[in-house]
Amino acid sequence: MTSEKIIADLVINGGVVVSPDAEYTASIAIKDGKILAIGEREAMPEAREIVDASGLHILPGAIDVHVHFRDPGYPQKEDFASGTAAAAFGGVTTVFDMPNTLPQIADAKALAEKHEIASAKAHVDYGLYAVLGEDSLANIDALIEGGIIGFKCYMGNTFGRIPSPTTGAMLELFELVAPTGKRISLHAETNSVMERREARLRAMGKTEPLDHLAARPAVVATEAVSRAAILAEWTGARIHVLHISSAAELRPLADAKARGVDITGETCPQYLLLSTEDYAAKRGVIRVNPPVREPENQEPIWQALVDGTIDMIATDHAPHSIEEKTREDIWTVDCGFPGVETQMPLMLTEAKRRGASLSDYVRWSAENPAKRWGLFPKKGALQVGSDADIAIVDTNRSWTVDDQALQSRAKITPWDGMEATALPVHTLVRGRFVMKDRTLQDDARGWGQSVHAIQEMPAAEPQNVDGTMAAVTRRSPIDD
Ligand code: DOR
Ligand code: ZN
Repeated sequence: MTSEKIIADLVINGGVVVSPDAEYTASIAIKDGKILAIGEREAMPEAREIVDASGLHILPGAIDVHVHFRDPGYPQKEDFASGTAAAAFGGVTTVFDMPNTLPQIADAKALAEKHEIASAKAHVDYGLYAVLGEDSLANIDALIEGGIIGFKCYMGNTFGRIPSPTTGAMLELFELVAPTGKRISLHAETNSVMERREARLRAMGKTEPLDHLAARPAVVATEAVSRAAILAEWTGARIHVLHISSAAELRPLADAKARGVDITGETCPQYLLLSTEDYAAKRGVIRVNPPVREPENQEPIWQALVDGTIDMIATDHAPHSIEEKTREDIWTVDCGFPGVETQMPLMLTEAKRRGASLSDYVRWSAENPAKRWGLFPKKGALQVGSDADIAIVDTNRSWTVDDQALQSRAKITPWDGMEATALPVHTLVRGRFVMKDRTLQDDARGWGQSVHAIQEMPAAEPQNVDGTMAAVTRRSPIDD
């Protein structure tokens, strides 16, 4: 028998590969969407295509666990094609899309429809979130069967006005999700506090951008994180704190981790790069939930990333139209702004400024998200056998954000005019260029796949199972 010579689909030569603990010059061979070999140029197999990455860095593509691509429901803001094009330009190879679309993703039918839309339009891989609320309580198993990356629980109201479950409902929902092992991502802001404050401020006629922050002080987030952590500890549910915006949230997060709660956290570029000092110039554009806060929050949030209390960087990419972001009365301005395309350039620039390494960035943007959602090492790693999800980055390139030139349909962000010193030049998803030389690869539309099927989470460890709502309301044989 003669052995067939292996011919790779692609070899990338001359780049500096960045892993979570090292940087080294190596070639990467790719075949059938996976990494076939990493090593000396001379050791690479023959290939159909060769790319020279001399002078560039090769990073695992970023995994953004928090985007809103608005599809179906709000095409003027974004759709799955434009949102994933923005991801491709940002070196992001997997996104987790939030369920506050129209309809919201709270039952199997809506989920199946979103899967169809995403698989037809996506340029990058994706996971879909489902709502965890009173409306979806009866649908938890059907949603998992339909293919989700995890659940999203809105403890506070935001765009889409998905009702916040009461603490009573949350406990029951956590009890139901705990044995499934799925992670519950939390919009951790306590609704009752915000509603009360907003109503009072509005009644007084206050309409300025900073009034939005006044309605949502850090205690709103801190109380929600603490309460959710207690429910997670009691039930054994896995949770993830979205968009950490304040130093005050770090204590309940660190305390819960120390108690052994399976809790993870993300922060976003807006909480590291923007502050109350930017409200006057940016006005409604900066309005986001949770709000951008006082500058003294930035350093503790950064340190929490460095020490691992915060696990990862996500963006909360939340596009709205120019008209929706420029209304005078702050309460009528839609909350959020795009971020999936600008995260990597801006955060690589910030990491450099603060003395963090490219390896640190890879941990925050790729390795940790993949690990916390059971996608590692298929995703989030440059290892033999991993999916060839790759961002090839020029870390010496000056780039200025220009809202008009972004891929997102929403041409308005607070990043406009910001300067970065790094830029992804090519992005590959499972071995295929989706963005090459800063050009979208048209044939990549529809290449993206759902990642829910590759989840390998550790065994679930539900707690206090004898006292769950289901257990205490089970009819005893005597009743029958
Ligand atoms: O500002 C925000 N906008 N925060 C959220 O939690 C939701 C998002 C949106 O969907 O617009
Ligand atoms: Zn969000």
